[in-house]
Amino acid sequence: MSAKIIDGTAIAAEIREEIRQQVAEMQSRWDRVPGLATVLVGDNTASATYVRMKQKACAEAGIQSFGHELPADASQEEVVGLVSELNANPEVNGILVQLPLPRHLDEEAVLNAISIEKDVDGFHPVNIGRLAMKGRDPLFIPCTPYGVIVLLQKAGIKLSGADAVILGRSNIVGLPVAMLLQKENATVTICHSRTRDLADHLRRADIVIAAIGQTEMVTGDMLKPGAAVIDVGINRKDDPLARRGYRLVGDVDYESAREVAGAITPVPGGVGPMTIAMLLQNTLRAAQIAFDGPR
Ligand code: GUN
Repeated sequence: MSAKIIDGTAIAAEIREEIRQQVAEMQSRWDRVPGLATVLVGDNTASATYVRMKQKACAEAGIQSFGHELPADASQEEVVGLVSELNANPEVNGILVQLPLPRHLDEEAVLNAISIEKDVDGFHPVNIGRLAMKGRDPLFIPCTPYGVIVLLQKAGIKLSGADAVILGRSNIVGLPVAMLLQKENATVTICHSRTRDLADHLRRADIVIAAIGQTEMVTGDMLKPGAAVIDVGINRKDDPLARRGYRLVGDVDYESAREVAGAITPVPGGVGPMTIAMLLQNTLRAAQIAFDGPR
């Protein structure tokens, strides 16, 4: 069997086009467009690339973006001070502080400082708390986990009653994905570096979300035939034939997994483009609430 490929690039492009149209309608109705402020602290190359991609995506959707860059030795007061200014700026509907922050900064305090109406990353503790609780909904769902759920839904994967295994328990992906899948009535197991027999859990999973940052650690023989596999990993693998000397691969060994899985996301071109699409979606929602009140 060869798996159905879940094309994140195509699905993200559709979502971005819908957002572009809604932004254009907003422009004609309110004479205003959504605004996203990005905050990049320090000179992490990958973070700088991600922020640039997010700003470019905003421009393509007609969303205004305000880029703020602070030096690697910026103080806690400077970062929180900037967040407070952005909270007060009516042109800014969403605030994105790119993570990770330099180690001397208190990430929790910075994320706490973002007004929850502008928390388009969904990382504020109130948003995460609402995500965790039964019968409550967050104002914003964190972008990568949101993208994972949309990919599963668009691929027609049944979530209710499914056995889902999440590999990884990060605040950005593993934990919120687990909470979202639980909200969708999946039976959720979170596996991590101390899990005793990972393959044993994986072989029972109808849905596998790999977000552990280990190059191609999930192989086809660990999967249940027909499983839906969403690979969130982005790892560099040495490849002398590649222009840069490496290529990007996921946490899943794509070639062996696609022979067993029922559906699978490629890396790149799977979850990555969805993170950006869902950020635009959250920014649009923040602006809709700001301009028109909650729906
Ligand atoms: N670092 C890695 N992923 C993300 C993300 O989705 N949002 C932010 N702000 N930082 C990240």
